[in-house]
Amino acid sequence: MSTANGADPQYSHDVLIIGSGAAGLSLALRLAGKARIAVLSKGTLQEGCTLWAQGGIAAVLDGKRDSLESHLRDTLNAGAGLCDERVARFTIERGAESIRWLIDQGVPFTQEGDSSYHLTQEGGHSQRRIFHSADTTGRAIETTLEQRIRQHPEVDLFEHHIAIDLITASKLGEHPQRVLGAYVLDRKQHRVVTFRARFVVLATGGASKVYLYTTNPDLSTGDGIAMAWRAGCRVANMEFNQFHPTCLYHPQAKSFLISEAVRGEGGRLLLPDGTPFMERFDPRAELAPRDIVARAIDHQMKRHGLEYVLLDISHKPSGFIREHFPYIYRRCLEFGFDITREPIPVVPAAHYSCGGVVTDLKARTDVPGLFAAGEVAFTGLHGANRMASNSLLECLVFAAAAGEEILRQLESTPQPGELPPWDESRVTDSDEEIVVTHNWDELRRFMWDYVGIVRSDKRLERAMHRVELLGREIREYYGNFRVTSDLLELRNLVVVAELIVRCAMARKESRGLHYTLDHPRPDDSQPPRNTMLTPPSPPS
Ligand code: FAD
Ligand code: SIN
Repeated sequence: MSTANGADPQYSHDVLIIGSGAAGLSLALRLAGKARIAVLSKGTLQEGCTLWAQGGIAAVLDGKRDSLESHLRDTLNAGAGLCDERVARFTIERGAESIRWLIDQGVPFTQEGDSSYHLTQEGGHSQRRIFHSADTTGRAIETTLEQRIRQHPEVDLFEHHIAIDLITASKLGEHPQRVLGAYVLDRKQHRVVTFRARFVVLATGGASKVYLYTTNPDLSTGDGIAMAWRAGCRVANMEFNQFHPTCLYHPQAKSFLISEAVRGEGGRLLLPDGTPFMERFDPRAELAPRDIVARAIDHQMKRHGLEYVLLDISHKPSGFIREHFPYIYRRCLEFGFDITREPIPVVPAAHYSCGGVVTDLKARTDVPGLFAAGEVAFTGLHGANRMASNSLLECLVFAAAAGEEILRQLESTPQPGELPPWDESRVTDSDEEIVVTHNWDELRRFMWDYVGIVRSDKRLERAMHRVELLGREIREYYGNFRVTSDLLELRNLVVVAELIVRCAMARKESRGLHYTLDHPRPDDSQPPRNTMLTPPSPPS
């Protein structure tokens, strides 16, 4: 660590990893001992989507019961014509290694007998192929990786640090373009510090917090996507935000997820009078891919004026339910629902960002030295709809790929020199915090109302109009006042909202997760295309 003229500290590492979920921590473990690493997280190391993952992680280890081809076929089917087959094959072929690596780290997957693992099933999968740790797989993965990384004193962990922006050569007026580091708000010390690094990896997760109702924790505000966009990276397929069909409907539950594995193990969706309805929408019924199930529920809720539909697994033996879904059983009981005896009310909520920062098979972005892995990235794996339990797999596979590439380039990449410190000379403390809270609420509500499960040209135009107004107001506010976490997140959310609306407006068809009343069918007159957005070139 150094300080420039007594200013705030400047840290120097080989690799700066922004994010400590499955992508960030698995990469840190792959690089530990081989490079000098810093890992940042906005809150504690554990906080993030990974901790909350329930269903599990899809992979094929046993070629007798399942096959890579079958996993590939299901992934491509769910992706509705937009998966990159090369990327899907690359990911799926690395599934077995990823599971073995997690087992070696100590992740306690649920076993069946002494020698094999219990596999569960979820929507879109034609086979049981999901490794899980009861119904708290994410917790098992995140806490195990956290324990492992804390055993490496040489890895610098910076909790409660929120990255503000990437520092690139072009922003400093230098050539050639390359990432050099990042400005970061130390939330405890209330000061901005500078990190410089040979490589920066965005492992910042998704952006579902842009919607009013979401399964995601508060920190999923698309920071990595917005930072990469501002740094000059392309972003793709942001219109494909996945809505999970089944969140518990309860005022205090804050969108508690009821895993798709509940449907995988026989759970049925019912109208409040007990009528099942999924067969009318898809022959796979409750096991149809998520876009179909979420839209079917949305349709029934709007048609019958319902606040929720029901999910029922009470026909299964109570011991089976408590063994397979101990966490869901306990949490629902706390909210007054005994899932072994009664159906529970559920609603859809924003869950997963299929789009993101464009990366290649080595997790490289458009800016040299900058990588992205996990939900922040657009690899091409998910196409127009992610199949359940393919995202943790993607985190692990692309974190490993980034690690290999970074090690390959490490020796030949020089350390950047001292960077200019953060400039606060023209800002003051805000006297109008209400602007931030008001705009947070407004943004998330109109995204839910106008850019949600069912869209239309008119709704998207309305959303764009509001995004532009908010964007102007937030940029002005950001330029005048000292940064806070809420302001930084809002600044990123408005960028992400604009990218989602722009992508949605560009897609004049319905495909996968993007459904619009004005173009209700896929456009079969041309091959399916990704929606690719290129940022304006930075001023020279
Ligand atoms: P995350 O785990 O979300 O971690 C993001 C990290 O980035 C955090 O450490 C955060 O602090 C940090 N960060 C973000 N912005 C900044 C910033 N500006 N500065 C510093 N740090 C920052 N997928 C599956 O495959 N199987 C499942 O069963 C499954 N179940 C799910 C259940 C729920 C309730 C949810 C919400 C998601 C589920 N998913 C599941 C999706 C999956 O959990 C996520 O896609 C995956 O965990 C994302 O991992 P990640 O490492 O990319 O990001
Ligand atoms: C779930 O358990 O339903 C979530 C699985 C996923 O999002 O992949």
